[in-house]
Amino acid sequence: MIADPQIEANGRLRHLLSIEGLPRTTLVKILDRAEDMAREEQSGTKKLPLLHGRTVVNLFFEPSTRTRTTFELAAKRLSADVVNVQLATSSTTKGETLLDTLRTLESMRVDLFVVRHKASGAAAFFARHATPDVSILNAGDGQHEHPTQALLDMFTLRRHLNGRPFSDLRVAIIGDILHSRVARSDIHALHTLGCRDIRVVGPRTLVPDTFATLGATPYHDFARGVEGANVLMLLRLQRERMIGALLPSAGEFHADFGLTEERLHRLGPDVIFMHPGPINRGVELAGALAYEAPSRILDQVHNGIAVRMAVMAEILGAAR
Ligand code: CP
Repeated sequence: MIADPQIEANGRLRHLLSIEGLPRTTLVKILDRAEDMAREEQSGTKKLPLLHGRTVVNLFFEPSTRTRTTFELAAKRLSADVVNVQLATSSTTKGETLLDTLRTLESMRVDLFVVRHKASGAAAFFARHATPDVSILNAGDGQHEHPTQALLDMFTLRRHLNGRPFSDLRVAIIGDILHSRVARSDIHALHTLGCRDIRVVGPRTLVPDTFATLGATPYHDFARGVEGANVLMLLRLQRERMIGALLPSAGEFHADFGLTEERLHRLGPDVIFMHPGPINRGVELAGALAYEAPSRILDQVHNGIAVRMAVMAEILGAAR
């Protein structure tokens, strides 16, 4: 039998590499724990002692604002020591390999690495080679997965549902699905939590029919794709991952698939929209909509702190 790369035989979360394969019980446990963390913050407690004496290293080989900052804040709020390795000025620029970088940093008695890399599978590679007392947390690997983004999205949706089941949701994920690790993680998480109406919407070049195998129905027409939806998840066009001309122009994308005031109005008062960020104003959505109701974009960012605190506390075995 092949061992689960994320969960140990005793049920402990050793690494967080993907939402695919993560048991429902673990996912719900993380969301419940994130609620505890959020309640602590609401009651005025900004710092908890749970990870005192533990060391977290942020290893971001790709740019990030939200994920890196909220991981740092989350670790500090749990009283961990945090180091942000500046990769642009690190020895990786002199040719040091991923494995040698891991070994070097491990020798400094690090407990947890938070890794973002442009290669799909990079976090799993680190996990395969990590020493037994070191954990790896995937902060986004290529086009594969972004598990903590999906967890904070599910946390945001669960709060929106306010006790109703995930089966009440009809979710349209719109935009550059092909290159999106967020779309993959969100689809797995929505399925795990019981949502059965998931659509992926965008131009044929960016919404491959293969997504049907993940349980998401592809649409290449905005109006048909969002009909009856009560959650829109907008995604950024990832030009840095596009090979060749997959799009005529950003303006044309906005005309066909961008969220405008008029399109939002047509969907009625029950719809909310989300976006993992960074947003391209005037492309995925009209700029004026970004932070106005029914946007949940800033809630998503804020919820990222509690969710990342919960994941780190679970992985490092901190008692509740
Ligand atoms: N959502 C997200 O991953 O944003 P960053 O790239 O800013 O971390």
